[in-house]
Amino acid sequence: MINANGNFQLLKTNYLFQTVAQKTKQYRVEHPDADIVVLGIGDVTRPLVPAVVEAFHKAVDEMAKAETFMGYPENTGYEFLKKAIIENDYAPLGVDLSPEEVFISSGAKSETANFTDMFGKGNTIAITDPVYPVYLDSNIMSGNAGKVSYSGEFGKIRMMDCIEKNSFLPEIPKKRADIIYLCSPNNPTGTAFTRKQLKKWVEYANKNSAIILFDAAYKAYIRDNDIPHSIYEIEGAKTCAVEFCSFSKTAGFTGVRCAYTIVPNEIRCHVKEGGTVSLNKMWNRRHATKFNGVSYITQKAAEACYSTEGKAQIEENINYYLKNAEAIRNCFKELKYTVYGGKNSPYIWLKVPKEYTSWQFFDYLLENYQIVGTPGSGFGKCGEGYFRLTGFGSAENTAKAIARLKAGK
Ligand SMILES: Cc1ncc(COP(=O)(O)O)c(C=O)c1O
Repeated sequence: MINANGNFQLLKTNYLFQTVAQKTKQYRVEHPDADIVVLGIGDVTRPLVPAVVEAFHKAVDEMAKAETFMGYPENTGYEFLKKAIIENDYAPLGVDLSPEEVFISSGAKSETANFTDMFGKGNTIAITDPVYPVYLDSNIMSGNAGKVSYSGEFGKIRMMDCIEKNSFLPEIPKKRADIIYLCSPNNPTGTAFTRKQLKKWVEYANKNSAIILFDAAYKAYIRDNDIPHSIYEIEGAKTCAVEFCSFSKTAGFTGVRCAYTIVPNEIRCHVKEGGTVSLNKMWNRRHATKFNGVSYITQKAAEACYSTEGKAQIEENINYYLKNAEAIRNCFKELKYTVYGGKNSPYIWLKVPKEYTSWQFFDYLLENYQIVGTPGSGFGKCGEGYFRLTGFGSAENTAKAIARLKAGK
């Protein structure tokens, strides 16, 4: 019998969304006629936009002919997609990138998790609480978490509490952190850094030779001018920040799978033997060994997101989700709840009534209104007492949920 990776024993037994799904399934079994509205999981519901579908069809036709057939894709991505990303997502922000700094992948989830391959042992890792669970779990799996204390805390992981008092934004660590995970607009709290706030993090990272792993999976939802769409809008970020982006929430690619990671040439890391190495070269090396690229047809579909029609159609979908989020936010405000998020973000972060825990509120909403949300405590201890809802449902289902809530007040 082989020895298992013991780090897995340190993980919470059940992944948050699996527990939500199991509880919902159980309720369905017990109430087969219930019309359940799911506003919990962060998955999109709008179909792919016509420009993307057309590009898919065209690419499939190319694959059907010997003259245009494509075999293994380039493992860091085709130049045509990298150029489209640079020209559309970065050049307008005044950010200059070269194609070798852009890595096309099948998802920001796996990229943020796989990035733990880049770092040696002994780093102190700063992670927000509440948090998108992948950052924490992937570090635990990789053995980066350090010793576990009696109270269950990890020696090498420093949780940064994001609570009402600090407007759910992490505070600059008082003790040194080497690797810092930031997500803006944030999942689950729906909050986002302004340029001024993010500047402080970039300054901290450069001053302390730390690295920021910046998850911008929800950047398409930003509407306010003072919120940056990329960390590279902040001066100095290219020497300290890696950025993770995705077509999932932008263009409805959750089922298609395509994302990109920016690893600037300027970032250097120390090696034990002395000297420094380029993080970009290391990530490139990893891709060459562990990843064989995203399919040609998928990358052609992603490229179509940047056509004039593609952009307009995608914008319409984002506005649709934002409208849902706003309606949910307004509904709970009307019902006298304290509500955060739902602006510049598809996520609404609700303060649950004092008499409930997050999971009790989950049961309350499911049993009384047949609405499924996500308990805040599943994202970390600071999420206790909160609840996440999303604007990703259909407008009809969102309206249905709102009508039920208002009727029951
Ligand atoms: C913060 C954050 N990053 C990344 C992802 C996953 O992105 P992808 O679908 O590209 O793997 C999610 C999905 O919910 C997310 O919330």
